[in-house]
Amino acid sequence: MKTVSVKTGRPYEILIEHGILDNAGEYIRPLTKAIRAVIISDTNVSPIYSDRVKNSLEKSGFETSVFVFEAGESSKRLSTIEKMYTHLFENNITRTDIIIALGGGVTGDMAGFAAATYLRGIDFVQIPTSLLAQVDSSVGGKTAVDLPTGKNLVGAFWQPILVLIDSDTLNTLPEKFFKDGLGEVVKYGCIRSKSLFERLENENAKDFIDDIIYECVSIKRDVVERDERDTGERAILNFGHTLGHALEKLNDYTNLTHGEAVSAGSAIITRISESHGLTAIGTAQRIENLLEKYDLPTNSEFPLSDIINATRGDKKSTGKSIKFVFLKEIGECFVQKIDTADFGEFFGV
Ligand SMILES: NC(=O)c1ccc[n+]([C@@H]2O[C@H](COP(=O)([O-])OP(=O)(O)OC[C@H]3O[C@@H](n4cnc5c(N)ncnc54)[C@H](O)[C@@H]3O)[C@@H](O)[C@H]2O)c1
Ligand SMILES: [Zn+2]
Repeated sequence: MKTVSVKTGRPYEILIEHGILDNAGEYIRPLTKAIRAVIISDTNVSPIYSDRVKNSLEKSGFETSVFVFEAGESSKRLSTIEKMYTHLFENNITRTDIIIALGGGVTGDMAGFAAATYLRGIDFVQIPTSLLAQVDSSVGGKTAVDLPTGKNLVGAFWQPILVLIDSDTLNTLPEKFFKDGLGEVVKYGCIRSKSLFERLENENAKDFIDDIIYECVSIKRDVVERDERDTGERAILNFGHTLGHALEKLNDYTNLTHGEAVSAGSAIITRISESHGLTAIGTAQRIENLLEKYDLPTNSEFPLSDIINATRGDKKSTGKSIKFVFLKEIGECFVQKIDTADFGEFFGV
């Protein structure tokens, strides 16, 4: 088993092991006085994995129930949270009981938000089953739901008490979502790990997926420990995301997945920063080659002027300027604010 300790305000461990789903109860039991555990999962994941987690929890003495919602980002909203609250109430969940998030990032973000807010906060455990959730969203304590006006606009910082990662679950993850998660994996290589980037170049990601998860989670842990509330260093995790979010918006959040948008965003921003001499020559080409190897996009059919315009409403925007993450070279990044007044000059649009 691989273990990563996260020393946030409320510290917790991330345990990475094949088959750990069947031992969930054993690892959770010593951490809580909970009598009841509610598994929150979606309509794709629950039929495959809920029973295994439920059996394990019951073996460890928990009374269990399962709340299932319709899979997909469109469920990530307050009306689903309200249904969760009703389930929690009807199952007599008290402040000392526990929620188990079993699924992808949508499940983790929502179950975490419900845990952060129900009875002013109860404990929760993350059992991420998508690659994106295993390398990114299950770690760091950001929980949220979408509003009709934008993604992740309502949320809370709420750390889990434990994260259990079983990469065997990726065997049932549709290829499209695996690829989506790889977009974020490439991001970690770009910002903090030349060695990860090189392994992704030289080997096939699926052949060393456990190492990938461990490396990405460790990078995220390091960043989150130093900046739990996202007021500084955590911004580097946004590499490729400012343009990526703009691309998602331009595509009306359909056609292009988040990972694809981030991939294209990473390549575009690096071509630009390289042209300004901010990034070592050849870096953009290397990123393009790697993204192409994993069938991820490196560009968009939208003109750059549209993409840049669409960044203006970005959450990371202060109104007058936007923070961009640039690479110095593969594995090394920095954050720079660009005044919106200088956009024309900087982006050449
Ligand atoms: N909290 C954070 O820090 C953070 C970071 C990045 C992304 N996110 C959020 O994560 C969400 C995206 O996560 P996601 O891509 O995991 O979405 P998701 O939860 O919708 O999962 C993707 C799809 O895969 C299915 N699935 C998941 N695991 C499976 C498995 N093992 N077998 C079969 N099917 C499986 C799901 O049912 C869904 O259809 C977004 O809402 C995003 O905002 C949060
Ligand atoms: Zn992302």
